[in-house]
Amino acid sequence: MEKSFHFSLLCALSLYSVSVAALSRDHFPPGFIFGAGASAYQVEGAAAEDGRKPSIFDPFCHAGFEIDHSDGDVAADQYHKYKEDIKLMHETGLDAYRFSIAWPRLIPDGRGEVNAKGMEYYNSFIDELLSYGIQPHVTLYHFDLPLALQEEYNGLLSPKFIDDFTAYADVCFKAFGDRVKNWVTVNEPNIEPIGGYDGGFLPPRRCSYPFGINCTGGNSTVEPYIVAHHLLLAHASAANLYKEKYQEKQGGKIGITLLGWWYEPATENPDDIAAARRMVDFHIGWLLHPLVYGTYPPVMRKNVGSRLPSFSEEDSRRVKGSFDFVGFNHYVVIYVEADTSQLENQVRDYMLDAAVKYANDPFARPQKGPLRKVTEGIPAEPWALQKMLEHIKVYYGNPPVMIHENGNAEAVDPANPKITYDDDFRIEFIKQYLEAVSLSIRNGSNTQGYFVWSFIDTFEFQFGYTARFGLYGVDFTSEAKTRYQRKSAQWYAQLLGGNRLGK
Ligand code: NOJ
Repeated sequence: MEKSFHFSLLCALSLYSVSVAALSRDHFPPGFIFGAGASAYQVEGAAAEDGRKPSIFDPFCHAGFEIDHSDGDVAADQYHKYKEDIKLMHETGLDAYRFSIAWPRLIPDGRGEVNAKGMEYYNSFIDELLSYGIQPHVTLYHFDLPLALQEEYNGLLSPKFIDDFTAYADVCFKAFGDRVKNWVTVNEPNIEPIGGYDGGFLPPRRCSYPFGINCTGGNSTVEPYIVAHHLLLAHASAANLYKEKYQEKQGGKIGITLLGWWYEPATENPDDIAAARRMVDFHIGWLLHPLVYGTYPPVMRKNVGSRLPSFSEEDSRRVKGSFDFVGFNHYVVIYVEADTSQLENQVRDYMLDAAVKYANDPFARPQKGPLRKVTEGIPAEPWALQKMLEHIKVYYGNPPVMIHENGNAEAVDPANPKITYDDDFRIEFIKQYLEAVSLSIRNGSNTQGYFVWSFIDTFEFQFGYTARFGLYGVDFTSEAKTRYQRKSAQWYAQLLGGNRLGK
């Protein structure tokens, strides 16, 4: 009794000390990495320059499937402005910058010839970061599959993807690994199968109505599972290649980054509690269970049955343990209810397999027709990140974790885009989530870094230019794609730089 009183008092005090005292680097272990990030298609622009060929996103956007019918042809034009951006990163005091290499810029046909101009660009980008002492954290695949591979063999649906991805990764490790010490193989392999093969809101829009919108054919009952399986095997193949051929010599780390939504029961009804737990397994366990244990989660094996691919013994061995860290992109908590309306033998897809109804899902199963618009920022529910980190600690052996994305967006009317400087809502959001990370670490989580999404405003997959996440704004209406500092950038600089003085 007394012990538990002391324990809760201690917890309360540590909560108090983190949230009342100004947040500082001292609330984090030495060596904790503070960064920010973006991905290639979302900021680079120069879509048809210097030998880049299209990814599956180019025709998707050009066909008008973004909310604002926009595309990443020019975006923030970072391809031409990277030196300016990296200077801003330095001024902000970033320890690290997370970015992705555009596979269709480096190997435009997805396989074969390497584009010298692409090589030159990423070499200069990395060198520029290092000249300021900023660590490059590089994602190899962030949704932008070379279109040629989609056209040749249906991209992620084919096991041929695994070899092509591994060959591309090999080129990157060989060319950049002397300077890049943190690699992410795949970004969000738990959302691409849903967006592209079940929901229809991402390319290649292979999904079957009534499961998705904008479907172009496909089969939502099996394809999401095949795609995730191939992404896992591709990750494992590249990660093992790195470990066997490069790691000892280059001394870097390699991991994978998952979308880390948290699921909470909408009511205290035991069915809803079970539904939330099931959904965590369908969302996070889908990838992490094989990565840690070599098999899919039992609930997925049971509910999906023979539609879920299985691992050969060799594959299971190669997937299990194929990471040095796990990245999470965390934004929202989703409240779920059990879906009790299912009939035996009903045709199913991912959501019906999980047997949940989403109460507040921002990407709730859409009706055929236009996607909903972004109307407001994300409500701050930092306890959900703590719960997620606790779950990772308890169920998956407490692996090293990176929070690779976290941040908040403001909605922008494309017809009247405003320049916004005062973003207290963003400061408050990031602060609360950093406090949650700090508390989780005190509670034993092995979280080693935190990256704000995003460093500058980006082209947002799905929402085009209607949602702005940047610490620095970009005036997309200006020819020069002018950057401007938001209040959150100043705040982050104070947090990072102020503590640098004490280093
Ligand atoms: C996750 C994705 O990795 C990133 O590309 C996207 O912009 C953010 N979420 C925000 O939606």
